[in-house]
Amino acid sequence: MTNHDELPIPIYSSLEPVYGEGPQLEEAKLRFENLKSKFLEVFGHPPEVFARSPGRVNLIGEHIDYEGYSVLPMAIRQDTIVAIRKRDKGEAEKFLRIANVNDKYATCTYPADPNQAIDLKKHKWGHYFVCGYKGYYEYAKSKGVDVRVPVGLDVLIDGIVPTGSGLSSSAAFVCSSTIAIMAAFGVNFPKKEIAQVTCDCEQHIGMQSGGMDQAISVMAKNGFAELIDFNPIRATDVKLPAGGTFVIAHSLAESQKAVTAATNYNNRVVECRLAAIVLGIKLGMKSQEAAEKVKTLSDVEGLCVQFAKAHNSKDPVLAVKEYLKVEPYTTEEIEKVAGKDLVSILGDNPTSLDVLRAAKRFKLHQRAAHVYSEANRVHAFKDTMSSNLSEEEKLKKLGDLMNESHYSCSILYECSCPELEELVKVCRKNGALGARLTGAGWGGCAVALVKETIVPRFISELTAQFYKPRIDKGMINEDDLRRYLFASKPSSGAAIIKF
Ligand code: GLA
Repeated sequence: MTNHDELPIPIYSSLEPVYGEGPQLEEAKLRFENLKSKFLEVFGHPPEVFARSPGRVNLIGEHIDYEGYSVLPMAIRQDTIVAIRKRDKGEAEKFLRIANVNDKYATCTYPADPNQAIDLKKHKWGHYFVCGYKGYYEYAKSKGVDVRVPVGLDVLIDGIVPTGSGLSSSAAFVCSSTIAIMAAFGVNFPKKEIAQVTCDCEQHIGMQSGGMDQAISVMAKNGFAELIDFNPIRATDVKLPAGGTFVIAHSLAESQKAVTAATNYNNRVVECRLAAIVLGIKLGMKSQEAAEKVKTLSDVEGLCVQFAKAHNSKDPVLAVKEYLKVEPYTTEEIEKVAGKDLVSILGDNPTSLDVLRAAKRFKLHQRAAHVYSEANRVHAFKDTMSSNLSEEEKLKKLGDLMNESHYSCSILYECSCPELEELVKVCRKNGALGARLTGAGWGGCAVALVKETIVPRFISELTAQFYKPRIDKGMINEDDLRRYLFASKPSSGAAIIKF
């Protein structure tokens, strides 16, 4: 049997295979109709083809994908749809014209030059499309596709994954853009390769992201969460336990991942790398070798486990406890251990240098302890789902693991915020078996595991206790509440639609 990841992106001529039946299909029909007519209005031609890719909720495994560890997300029904048309050869101007059905996003124009640099200091929503554009060209070239003459593209976007929500609106945008560009050029590639390309694409926007969001957006399957492994990327279907539902709730604090990268997201990536280098050296590596070769905590996990074994354990956290001090490290302290200055160790990535400029201290112990323990929780989560425990016991254990994950994110990784802390507490108080922040954090959503039978009550309690005061303050409109609080089933992954 062909592995699902090896297959190209599916091409459909109708919406049912993607959106199923019922209200979701009806909503999708309206969105596609609107895209068609608006495209015609803006560009004077109909679109040639559409691509869509969903957002995701991560059930467990936070901030460990870029360290090489497996994660367990599922796709949600909210997605980004891209309508696209190649401009005819001979047309004088060679531009990418990128419009949005939402008036909040003004039309952007970029040159059709795949080698253009993206201005990271000036964040523009269209940058995400250009990421996909650059990524497509780099990849297509490496696959021997003839891409000598860049062509102009007309593009219209409709995204309904809430932005800054930790539900991966950026991956939905980058993946749907890259796939739409491929479709416009009449090429297709295996899903797992597209997952890798789109992950690399986001590096163009200055994020040192891992590959989780793109992998699930591209490879998701209706009805399943996926265990995503990296190096190489691989997705394994995971059936969620009957009787449990995941409810997603927005903290209403927006997390601007790309804007705060130097102090938040990329800072943690750098701290993990420094923690790994220090651990490698303390566990016997030559300092020069560690400084040059060690990139992630998974690179030194073997050494940590060896250390643990000598102490009758398998837990790499033991080495963290022994060799990384709890007090934050100064730059000088790390340089002393590494025998090299941090600018030359991290100089291979300019965004790491931004981190160095912004940071005074590095919390190596806490970050490494989070990563190793979270990696273990992902496997415990997966094993629980396939275990012989009763449904009741399974749900309880999964909830406990989610709660532990949240504690670790909040206390050790410090990627929570007051709004998320309040929301997680409200979820637990109202019967969630487990609740945790999801995605990068620093705002965005929480995900709660709730028994199916109490979902309506749970949602109304959350509304009353968390959202009502905020509606009263005018932070959100009551009518928009279902965009911020909803139960979600695992949805399907990326698709090309050609009517
Ligand atoms: C963001 C990144 C992912 C992952 C999560 C945290 O969503 O894009 O790669 O690191 O944060 O788990």
